[in-house]
Amino acid sequence: MSIEVTGVTRFFGSTRAVWQMDMSVPAGTVTGLVGPNGAGKTTLLLMLAALLAPDAGSIRVEGLDPVTRPREVHRAVGWMPDSFGTWDSLTCTEILLTFAAAQGLDRTTSAQQADEMLSAVHLDELARTPARVLSRGQKQRLGLARALVHHPQVLLLDEPAAGMDPRSRADLRVLLRDLAASGVTVLVSSHILPELEQMVDGVIFMARGQAVTPPSPGRPGPDDRSSCEGPHNADGGGPPRPPGGPVRPQPIRRVWRMQALDAQRLADWAASAPVHAVVSDDDAARLAVPDEATAAHVLREALDAGVDVVSFAPAGGSLEEIYLSMEGERR
Ligand SMILES: Nc1ncnc2c1ncn2[C@@H]1O[C@H](COP(=O)(O)OP(=O)(O)OP(=O)(O)O)[C@@H](O)[C@H]1O
Ligand SMILES: [Mg+2]
Repeated sequence: MSIEVTGVTRFFGSTRAVWQMDMSVPAGTVTGLVGPNGAGKTTLLLMLAALLAPDAGSIRVEGLDPVTRPREVHRAVGWMPDSFGTWDSLTCTEILLTFAAAQGLDRTTSAQQADEMLSAVHLDELARTPARVLSRGQKQRLGLARALVHHPQVLLLDEPAAGMDPRSRADLRVLLRDLAASGVTVLVSSHILPELEQMVDGVIFMARGQAVTPPSPGRPGPDDRSSCEGPHNADGGGPPRPPGGPVRPQPIRRVWRMQALDAQRLADWAASAPVHAVVSDDDAARLAVPDEATAAHVLREALDAGVDVVSFAPAGGSLEEIYLSMEGERR
């Protein structure tokens, strides 16, 4: 595991921001961190980045304890805060050079990395521009470049897409997938769930300072298990805690939507489809399809059965559906 969190607690005065949090995140994956305002996401990410000390519990990031080895954790981790406070008089390049130097990179490597990262986030034309004139979205992209300038093993992103235009968001999704494919562990908090769903391997849900397993929203799925049966906290007041050790990212069970020329024929086929299927009011079938290989198989079966398929694509919205089933966790 690249990130291990055990019994981590952090108070601000009497506010319990993170409470006995247990989770683990595997290396080389993109994990979403999802939860309502005030759930403790930013507080958790700050502790992982060795920028805030926990009151209790233990954290390991790439095997390093942020409390006792903060410098090494700063080198291992790229941190992108939700709003990037720039040093106003410095240019984009100068900001990246300053940061790279602080991470111990030599001048030549720093200069190369600064150029590379500015072009990765399409800010090369603004390299010599003072950061104060950047737009909000451009500042976000500069923040991303800064987080990546020292080639971190772990990337922690707090609401990275907020303020970014659609093209930059699409670029971000591709970039994060590429980083994970090269072995980087990515943990990203976001409220933009349809978008998050497209880039994550799994999601950790947080509510009231803890990792929680959301109740099943009743979406289609052959092995649908109600996941609300975990024991409640010892203090009796918190959300349900999952049994059996730290929470791991939950894969999102994706739903695909199929439409056909003949709705009745589609419905007849759906009744014995190779995966769980329900036909909705709009005459489309919603099918539980865990991966693209299964999607190809399902499509072939439908066509072989004589269903005149006119469209078959991920329906999206699964993550949002799960989230909304947690609405009671808001505070
Ligand atoms: N510096 C601080 N001082 C006092 N209270 C704080 C501080 N930082 C966070 N809190 C409190 O801790 C709780 C968790 O806040 P946190 O920022 O971690 O939530 P979050 O999940 O990131 O929310 P959001 O989705 O709004 O970003 C909140 O109740 C918040 O008011
Ligand atoms: Mg936050």
